[in-house]
Amino acid sequence: MTNENKPYDPAKEGAQMSFDGRMSYGDYLQIDKILDAQKPLSTAHDEMLFIIQHQTSELWMRLAIHELIAARNALRNDDLAPAFKMLARVARIFEQLNSAWDVLRTMTPSEYTEFRNTLGQSSGFQSQQYRQVEYILGNRNKAMLKPHAHKPHIHQLLDDELNQPSLYDEALRLLNRNGVDVPNEILTRDVREQHQPSSDVENAWKIVYQDTSKYWTLYELAEKLVDFEDYFRRWRFNHVTTVERIIGFKRGTGGTGGVSYLRRMLEVELFPELWHVRTQL
Ligand code: HEM
Repeated sequence: MTNENKPYDPAKEGAQMSFDGRMSYGDYLQIDKILDAQKPLSTAHDEMLFIIQHQTSELWMRLAIHELIAARNALRNDDLAPAFKMLARVARIFEQLNSAWDVLRTMTPSEYTEFRNTLGQSSGFQSQQYRQVEYILGNRNKAMLKPHAHKPHIHQLLDDELNQPSLYDEALRLLNRNGVDVPNEILTRDVREQHQPSSDVENAWKIVYQDTSKYWTLYELAEKLVDFEDYFRRWRFNHVTTVERIIGFKRGTGGTGGVSYLRRMLEVELFPELWHVRTQL
């Protein structure tokens, strides 16, 4: 018997085809809202790519925040297995965001120039979610609150985040609760400030890395954090390289020096002692 090349009607095997009064895929996911949010301001063909690339990044960041906050709570409650799973997921989210740069890189300087002026002063620099991710992780530059002053609820949300211990603060507290001493001044530090690299904390991680069988769970935590920061650093690197490829050394629409600012951000260490300790092992 030959297979006939006729359109197949899935209703024959029971697929629901009528959604009058029933929740459909589009209803559940609010697809009309999402697909109504691409509003190019120019007639340039590539502006759609630019918009969707940012919007999809924001959606993945939304999930990253959801996972990071839950992971931090889990660490606080000594609930390590779910925390590990969530941290692994966040690393994969950033892997996904890293691959996404390949799509954006297909846009040339000539194509971007066609619509860059329409962006005005807007820039990813003002992304509230990106700032929230940085604040949760512990990169707590209070100066970055300012671009949100005109939206009090967002400013408040970010300010509230600064009052919470960062993910790394919780990791260090957990270390201390599990028999690896961390100095009191680190455990009780003003969490609104940036964590400063400490040789005592480095030595605490060294103890973990030198006896992995005794401290297996803490060792696993350390490697989950390093793994995540590794992907996060790659995101920053991919961003600055894409930016250089597309705008060279022009100033950013947000007003910074552009590539020079982004290169500076490559030096940020989220979990500094976890990187420094490697020299000692
Ligand atoms: C043509 C593509 C892009 C260009 C030319 C570009 C350019 C820049 C520049 C120059 C800055 C520095 C701030 C400024 O003065 O504007 C910046 C910051 C930033 N951009 Fe992009 N960007 C691009 C794509 C993206 C995408 C797809 C995202 C994803 C959300 C993104 C997110 C960010 C974030 C979060 C910052 C702040 C980084 C920080 O403060 O460390 N950018 N971008």
